[in-house]
Amino acid sequence: QKLQLNLDQIEKAGYEHFMLKEIYEQPSAIKDTYRGRMLADRGIIRMAGVDDNLEKFLNAKRIIVVACGTSWHAGLVSEYIFEDLARIPVEVEYASEFRYRNPVINKDDVVIAISQSGETADTMAAIKLAKENGAFVFGVCNVVGSSISRETHAGAYTHAGPEIGVASTKAFTTQITILSLMALKLGKAKGSISNSDYHMYLNEMEQIPSKIEKALQSNDHIMKVAAVYKNAKNCLYLGRGYNFPVALEGALKLKEISYIHAEGYPAAEMKHGPIALIDEHMPVVVIATKKGHYEKVVSNIQEIKSRKGKIIAVVTEGDTSVKNIADHVIEVPETFEALTPLLTTIPLQLFSYHIAVMLGKNVDQPRNLAKSVTVE
Ligand code: G6P
Repeated sequence: QKLQLNLDQIEKAGYEHFMLKEIYEQPSAIKDTYRGRMLADRGIIRMAGVDDNLEKFLNAKRIIVVACGTSWHAGLVSEYIFEDLARIPVEVEYASEFRYRNPVINKDDVVIAISQSGETADTMAAIKLAKENGAFVFGVCNVVGSSISRETHAGAYTHAGPEIGVASTKAFTTQITILSLMALKLGKAKGSISNSDYHMYLNEMEQIPSKIEKALQSNDHIMKVAAVYKNAKNCLYLGRGYNFPVALEGALKLKEISYIHAEGYPAAEMKHGPIALIDEHMPVVVIATKKGHYEKVVSNIQEIKSRKGKIIAVVTEGDTSVKNIADHVIEVPETFEALTPLLTTIPLQLFSYHIAVMLGKNVDQPRNLAKSVTVE
């Protein structure tokens, strides 16, 4: 037992929990994911699974993403980036709904299945259905040799390394990394992004790991903010555009490990329901980075403030307008709008982590949840 305990401590590499270790591993996990694939100085993105099937991607009338949980949120981020940069229509489906819905699948559809474990039963069933209907299926998995990686026609591994914490962190950001590289590669091949934008994106992607390091430096501040809200009964997360899926993911993280009820919403949808919940007891986490509908998000923040809601805003470094109205701000470095999810996710992971720790919850193995869901 003593040996087991020591092994556990070694594996955690000095961190109190796997989840915290995995949050801090994100800069290196992302580097590992693009290393050898993205050669920014030469303007090259090499991905064997995409290169070998380039025609299929370029002729795709649509991309259908199938996934569950956090991987589904990465799929939602990819909807924005594929449509924005590669101009390919994207549908993002819960694998569990897709598989039972008699979906329309065409031969020129490309199905992308996203799964950290590569073992999720519903995602696997969705892949089989897509294959039966003649679609080309591409896998984005983390676990090498997993069932989904073997069942798909081609794929790209995320190279995040083992993820032990049940709540997914580095798998999510590395999935977004892979999907962004794919969108950039296809956008370049299709001519839907300019050469200079393409090069700027590659250079910016190379900066992401150090920008995440910077975002991680807010950890102590985030812990203090978490202490203020640890006893909240509910929490609302709002974001727009690329950061709407980040709001969903932030809410999921809080639910999973702290058992606080949380909901993510597109900020503008707030007035169609959730605004009724806002009072002085309701913390609202708002992603309000510069670019990406910034002014509109600021006016959403004002609406919450006038109803006495408590605002925790994730903002771009140096922001002043939101600072004046929010109760707390957490800064992240500036980046391109399409890459902001890679940064804005970080404080939300830390926020839920600290709340769960303060509440004495089992962070790495939350009740009722499994790391991989191999049954329906
Ligand atoms: C479970 C895990 C989640 C994960 C989801 C999908 O619910 O607890 O963290 O996002 O399954 O798993 P996958 O391995 O397919 O990404």
